[in-house]
Amino acid sequence: MPISAPEQSLLEVQGLEAGYGKIAVLHGVELRIGKGEVVALLGPNGAGKTTLLRALSGLLPVTAGSVRFEGQDLTNASPRDAARAGMVHVIEGHRVFTQISVADNLELAGYDLPRGERAARIEEALAFFPEIAAKRRDRGGALSGGQQQMLAVAQGLVRRPKLLMLDEPSAGLSPVLVDRVLSVVRELCAKGTSVLLVEQLIEKTLAVSDRVHALAQGRIVLSAGAKEADLPHRLERAYFGTEVPTALHA
Ligand SMILES: Nc1ncnc2c1ncn2[C@@H]1O[C@H](COP(=O)(O)OP(=O)(O)O)[C@@H](O)[C@H]1O
Ligand SMILES: [Mg+2]
Repeated sequence: MPISAPEQSLLEVQGLEAGYGKIAVLHGVELRIGKGEVVALLGPNGAGKTTLLRALSGLLPVTAGSVRFEGQDLTNASPRDAARAGMVHVIEGHRVFTQISVADNLELAGYDLPRGERAARIEEALAFFPEIAAKRRDRGGALSGGQQQMLAVAQGLVRRPKLLMLDEPSAGLSPVLVDRVLSVVRELCAKGTSVLLVEQLIEKTLAVSDRVHALAQGRIVLSAGAKEADLPHRLERAYFGTEVPTALHA
């Protein structure tokens, strides 16, 4: 259920600009995520979705605007500080280490945690993915592509994120595995974790989201509740610049 009271915002992004050197990609992006909310970020290829996640998680400099997380200013925080604050980014096409075990991949994700704490977090993360928990002693490379994708998400969970940012977690997965990964998103939000979900699959993504933003050419072109009528249609129009943007804090 969407939470709209501003004091319950987890993430507040205002007027965000970022890009690569002289190439500006994001133009005044506004985004808010409440606690326990799943927010979808949709948009055509090249719209700037990955760039936005990178700017939020400290992988790319922010050239204007602000990022506040739990009321704390995290604009241009380092990736380590962003992760410590609770913002965890599972990068697009994330690949796991194929030569070491599933368990060791998870150990690496929690390298800086005290040993006992790390073990507990690994169990917590594996509890979401029984299919990889059963293979914890196998090499990462012995997992199917879909299972490797799940392992990448589990690595993010070892950080016990307050906000998990997933960049196209369903890319390259079979429909059954897509449903599996997206169902974990719902489980996470039921446990109070917020999720920013970047996806290409409109209908399946809307089904697990509370709110949706569409990005096109570096601008938010539509913001809506995920269950609003006629959304797939409106999103497509927004992608091509024929939808009037709705209120940014819808
Ligand atoms: N490393 C880079 N250097 C220069 N331009 C880039 C780089 N990465 C992405 N871009 C450009 O930034 C724009 C947004 O890309 P991206 O954020 O990857 O889009 P999306 O994730 O929505 O497909 C595109 O025009 C892309 O060509
Ligand atoms: Mg991308």
